[in-house]
Amino acid sequence: MRRVRPDRRSGRHRGRHDAARLDRLTEAHVSIPFLDGPTTPILLAPMAGVSDRAFRTLCLEQGADLTYTEMVSAKGLSFANAKTRHLIDVAPAETHVAVQLFGHEPDVMASQAAWVEDALGSRLAYLDVNMGCPARKIVTKGDGSALMKDPDLAAAIVHAIKGAVSCPVTAKFRRGYAEGDETAPAFARRLEAAGVDAVAVHGRFAEQLYRGHADWDVVARVKEAVSVPVIGNGDVRSGADAAALVAQTGCDAVMIGRGAEGNPWVFAEVKGTLAGRATQKPSLEERLAMARRHARLLAAEEGRNIVRMRRHAMAYLAGLPGAAHARAKLCGCVTVEDFDAVFDALLEEAARHLSAR
Ligand SMILES: Cc1cc2nc3c(=O)[nH]c(=O)nc-3n(C[C@H](O)[C@H](O)[C@H](O)COP(=O)(O)O)c2cc1C
Repeated sequence: MRRVRPDRRSGRHRGRHDAARLDRLTEAHVSIPFLDGPTTPILLAPMAGVSDRAFRTLCLEQGADLTYTEMVSAKGLSFANAKTRHLIDVAPAETHVAVQLFGHEPDVMASQAAWVEDALGSRLAYLDVNMGCPARKIVTKGDGSALMKDPDLAAAIVHAIKGAVSCPVTAKFRRGYAEGDETAPAFARRLEAAGVDAVAVHGRFAEQLYRGHADWDVVARVKEAVSVPVIGNGDVRSGADAAALVAQTGCDAVMIGRGAEGNPWVFAEVKGTLAGRATQKPSLEERLAMARRHARLLAAEEGRNIVRMRRHAMAYLAGLPGAAHARAKLCGCVTVEDFDAVFDALLEEAARHLSAR
């Protein structure tokens, strides 16, 4: 459904010409119900190698309003690559998901966006374009955050996808490409003019990779710059962080990445904090039970080899007594049974630890 979005900017003087221009722009925008709720939506970030359907399912159960797929290569989809297509498989419990595409050719991005929309139908919440990935193998091809260096091309991609699909189209990018050169507000404006329906901003420069801290003020500056919804992202690990990000920036939604790894409960915590409720941290037993369930969900999809569970398992065990020893053993785990054996040993170790006190 296409709808004129009311101007979300407030407190800023804009001339009549500017207002008329914005009205024309906003007419083309599609309302995103997932970003329009009465409470601040909390989203699971796209994370390659992490946000697979098993993890997305667990995060939805814990209160995430929307989850993103791992980034999916538009080129790979265009070659009907089976591994790439697997990335957009959705679990039965997933009634809605945002699919993130990466690439740099507007026509390929547009045709594959249309393919994804056809394949997922009403389960597709929106299509997101990766304009923030700083990995060398991505950037050297002109994909991911390289698009921040070429706003015309980035805008052409958004424009092309908008012309090919009827679902909303969003973009996720960083504070800027080169360290110290904050281009995100102007970049967001450029994408808005091309028809983007929402933007997600991670407050680090691409050249920074994951070093230092995410600057949340850039989220506020992007919010000032555009009228489409702005999703704030970077270093949110608790309910208090999310509340601070919202208060500091006025962002329309909060996106959580690493803070959810091994901790899908972070969504319940954030929602509790924003509603003024206290929530309890999961116990050791609950963490291990979640890790076991996660392993089983992965095995149901991937078969016996669930090597990708290693990273998740390490995250579930982080900070637990005996975790350092367990981590070394996790590096050799392949099957559900292997992971269960490490979790069993950790529980026994914890029980010994308690009885010795
Ligand atoms: C392992 C890993 C994989 C990631 N993969 C993607 C990706 O596929 N697409 C994307 O836009 N960002 C990706 N990111 C970036 C996150 O979505 C997020 O912007 C970043 O981690 C900052 O948020 P956080 O501090 O909540 O983790 C990835 C981050 C990590 C740690």
